[in-house]
Amino acid sequence: MNAKPLRFGIAGLGAVGGGVLRILQNHPVHLERRGGCPLVISAVSGRDRSKDRGVSISAYAWEDDAIKLASRDDVDIVVELIGGDEGVARTLVETALKNGKPVITANKALLAKHGLALAQLAEKNELPLCYEAAVGGGTPMIKMMREALTANAILKFRGILNGSTNFILSEIRDSGRSYDAVIAEAKEKGFLEADPSLDIDGHDAGHKLCILGSIAFGIKPALDKLPRTGIGKIKLEDIQNAESNGYRFKLVCWAERHEKGVVTLAVEAGLVPRDSIMARVEKGKNILMVQGDSVGSSLCEGMGAGPGPTASAVVADMVDIARGGRTDSVFGVAANDLLDGNFVSPEDVAGDFVVLRANEKPLVFSNQRRSEIQEQGKIFRLFSDI
Ligand SMILES: NC(=O)c1ccc[n+]([C@@H]2O[C@H](COP(=O)([O-])OP(=O)(O)OC[C@H]3O[C@@H](n4cnc5c(N)ncnc54)[C@H](OP(=O)(O)O)[C@@H]3O)[C@@H](O)[C@H]2O)c1
Repeated sequence: MNAKPLRFGIAGLGAVGGGVLRILQNHPVHLERRGGCPLVISAVSGRDRSKDRGVSISAYAWEDDAIKLASRDDVDIVVELIGGDEGVARTLVETALKNGKPVITANKALLAKHGLALAQLAEKNELPLCYEAAVGGGTPMIKMMREALTANAILKFRGILNGSTNFILSEIRDSGRSYDAVIAEAKEKGFLEADPSLDIDGHDAGHKLCILGSIAFGIKPALDKLPRTGIGKIKLEDIQNAESNGYRFKLVCWAERHEKGVVTLAVEAGLVPRDSIMARVEKGKNILMVQGDSVGSSLCEGMGAGPGPTASAVVADMVDIARGGRTDSVFGVAANDLLDGNFVSPEDVAGDFVVLRANEKPLVFSNQRRSEIQEQGKIFRLFSDI
């Protein structure tokens, strides 16, 4: 195999960036066979060059200014693993695409907020903009929705897409400790984002849902139209009440297509039956369950975060580009042809609901709107339909 090496510039050497370096260093032959050419790193960038990252960076050129990676002659492809929806990450991605360099990123916040403009730029310049790692970490949710299920009109999908909140809910249930105690420990262990509300209030899940919704329904990413309720209001006694009556709490990303192209996208702390597939998705795992008009239901499950799983998806994008790349539609439909979403609020969408009541059996309501339920108690949407 004598093909020219494909040369990467990697910005961000933290959990994900470090994981990518490890895979490339550990499997050069395997990746060359898969990609059809050697995958090599020319240059890297982080904030602190001297930091011990548990993986050697001595073989690579260093840039203090990550944006310079986008202009280096020895960088064919830019990999953005810094994070954040503005600042260096955004400028780096835009500069690389303007300079004719394909981009790989794991940055869901950036794509949810600026995905349309970035997709237009990438498509105008006929460049791949790859982001498999942005949703579902190591599980191929983007490929599933965009490629594997492309023949289908997507009718609905359900996802558990935030490992931190899933971990917190599992931990409260298993340990019997209060929400506040588990959050405090999760913060101390660095398990939550620096700003924990990103996870707890459903923002991170919302970014991922926004991206998936765009692909599923062929609509422009519209983060500001996406209602979110996080897990902040769920108490230990709610979790115990639900468990003892056959239900389990999950932070669910859900989407439905209604008539005439109207859709609902929402992040909602809701209930699933305790014996369901979604209930089994515990701790840091993610799941996506999709219902298409031809395929029926299909699912994808695995580790949604962490250096290994997330880097696995980033490296898969590297191999895809080496193999000829995705220069077609970033969101599955050409960016200029994406439609404005026509949204209906989850409050106006009928579904199944459970009313949890202290010291009494829960009440279950089918095919109703939340506002139609007059019973006293805490009302939660029940997800048991895929
Ligand atoms: N962690 C996960 O499991 C996971 C899963 C899916 C997607 N993602 C996404 O992947 C991206 C990276 O996440 P992460 O967890 O790897 O973050 P992280 O561990 O905080 O690493 C961020 C890296 O960016 C570097 N950095 C920060 N500001 C910079 C700047 N101005 N110029 C150059 N480098 C800069 C940091 O450098 P120093 O190391 O020198 O401080 C660090 O190496 C984010 O978009 C995140 O949402 C992460």
